[in-house]
Amino acid sequence: MTLSAALARIAPSQTTAMTDRAAALRAAGRDIISLSVGEPDFPTPPHVIAAAKAALDAGDTRYTPVAGTPRLREAAALHFKRDLGIDVPPRQVIVSAGGKQAIFHALLATLNPGDDVLIPSPWWVSYPEIVCFAGAEAIALPTTAAGGFRITPDQLEAAITPQTRWLLLNSPGNPTGAVYGAEEIRALGAVVARHPQMLVLSDDIYAPLRYDGGQHATLAAQCPELASQVLTVSGVSKSHAMTGLRIGVAAGPEWLIEAMARLQSHSSGNPASISQAAAVTAFEGPQDFLADWRERLRVRRDSVVTAINAIPGLSTPVPDGAFYCMVDAAPLMARFASDEALCLHLLEHGVAVVAASAFGGQTGFRISFAADDALLDEALRRIAKALA
Ligand SMILES: Cc1ncc(COP(=O)(O)O)c(C=O)c1O
Repeated sequence: MTLSAALARIAPSQTTAMTDRAAALRAAGRDIISLSVGEPDFPTPPHVIAAAKAALDAGDTRYTPVAGTPRLREAAALHFKRDLGIDVPPRQVIVSAGGKQAIFHALLATLNPGDDVLIPSPWWVSYPEIVCFAGAEAIALPTTAAGGFRITPDQLEAAITPQTRWLLLNSPGNPTGAVYGAEEIRALGAVVARHPQMLVLSDDIYAPLRYDGGQHATLAAQCPELASQVLTVSGVSKSHAMTGLRIGVAAGPEWLIEAMARLQSHSSGNPASISQAAAVTAFEGPQDFLADWRERLRVRRDSVVTAINAIPGLSTPVPDGAFYCMVDAAPLMARFASDEALCLHLLEHGVAVVAASAFGGQTGFRISFAADDALLDEALRRIAKALA
């Protein structure tokens, strides 16, 4: 059977593929440590679990409004104000089945063949695939470890053409952990202001997981004059370890939120009612557990960075946020046909990581350090041994 032209343009997610492969090997009895997944290993906070159970017991099992319950849109508006400094009324907020669906709907609702989307690389795996699915072209804005994996205003200005429809900005970034400071965000905003035909998708889903102690800076808060051009994506997947509950939120101009809701009304409909009830509690309930999570992740980050940089041929900068290290293995590439071959070699030695090529890179891999401390130590020992 032939596939649609749109589907033929995209590949399955390589991060999911590696996670599935590790799980299959484990099921076959192999001892595999997976550092390929993009989710915190901490348990979902108990007050969130309790809210989900209470919603079930209350019979909260019916359709809700497509863009989310009024209660959750209000709670999400509170989250955008309190945590990101963005002032939006609930009607400018949409709730989707994960941040991924919000991004998918925003791009599908606005892109046409011939449009370009600028994406700093290394990038999150789904960005270019969604852009291609929509029939538009993904244009890489390459960044380097030496440049902190951040684009510059000049680089952005030089890349913008009349075809540019979106810039996808992700801070803290997956897979690099790069975080933009307030001044950098404002300088990028000044460029965007000169191009009113373009939109910016600011993906701040990792904002609560920063290790530099700084106040998070996001475009819609730093440049309120750009309100008509910015969609901010956030959620509870990473901040509250609720990846399986599938709730993401986005805030932006009313026309765009309505367009996303129109598409959502014919794709998934409303996000799961139980998950929405849990997300209300996630946004409105205590946030103090996050300080503990951040500290534990920071300790793991530091030990992973030290261990990686001690392995000959590997190097990684210190990521300021999220829970990933982008590891460069360029000096080792003479030994392997590709970065995927390198990752398969590591898998043979019992560690699953994701090849840099999944993120638009070439010579390395991404490690997730959202894993148990003892497992992380053992995984790093295995990587060192595999490459010795
Ligand atoms: C940068 C980034 N954005 C969005 C998402 C989507 O998160 P979810 O759909 O699980 O809420 C992810 C998940 O890995 C991510 O890494």
